Amino acid sequence: MKKPMKILTLITLSALFALNVNAAQPKQVKKITAIDPETGLIVAKGIENVVANCTACHSAKFITLQRGSRDTWKDMIRWMQKTQGLWEFDPATEKSILDYLATNYAPDDKIERRKNLPLSALPVNPYEKKM
Ligand code: HEC
Repeated sequence: MKKPMKILTLITLSALFALNVNAAQPKQVKKITAIDPETGLIVAKGIENVVANCTACHSAKFITLQRGSRDTWKDMIRWMQKTQGLWEFDPATEKSILDYLATNYAPDDKIERRKNLPLSALPVNPYEKKM
């Protein structure tokens, strides 16, 4: 083989190898999403409405530390509207905010607390008073 040919083969082989290594990687469960550097919110559809309406009074951390179903988010919004001076939204804006929150900050069963162990699985409590 001539030298340029050898180099070409080498490049092709390493490219194929790289592709193969990539293919062997386990599939990502969740799509990697961008985080807005200013607020810490997940960059997704509807973020402009959330930034405009939900970060005026408090940090977006209130949102990023919460998880909730659509109803839970709606209840939180109603509570702020009733008691904290949050303004009313037109239906399209409210839908867009709820879509965003319920999609990006939904309850995550992977981070939920596990159930308490049954008493039978616990060690004897040495401090328990004997009756
Ligand atoms: C008019 C001001 C105002 C706006 C605008 C506002 N909030 Fe709030 N929010 C508050 C106040 C006040 C609290 C309570 C703070 C505290 O408990 O110290 C609060 C609390 C929260 C909490 C914490 C609730 C809890 O019980 O832990 C979340 C989550 C939240 N807001 C989300 C949002 C979202 C989502 C939006 C946009 C739809 C929003 N906020 C817009 C005033 C506002």
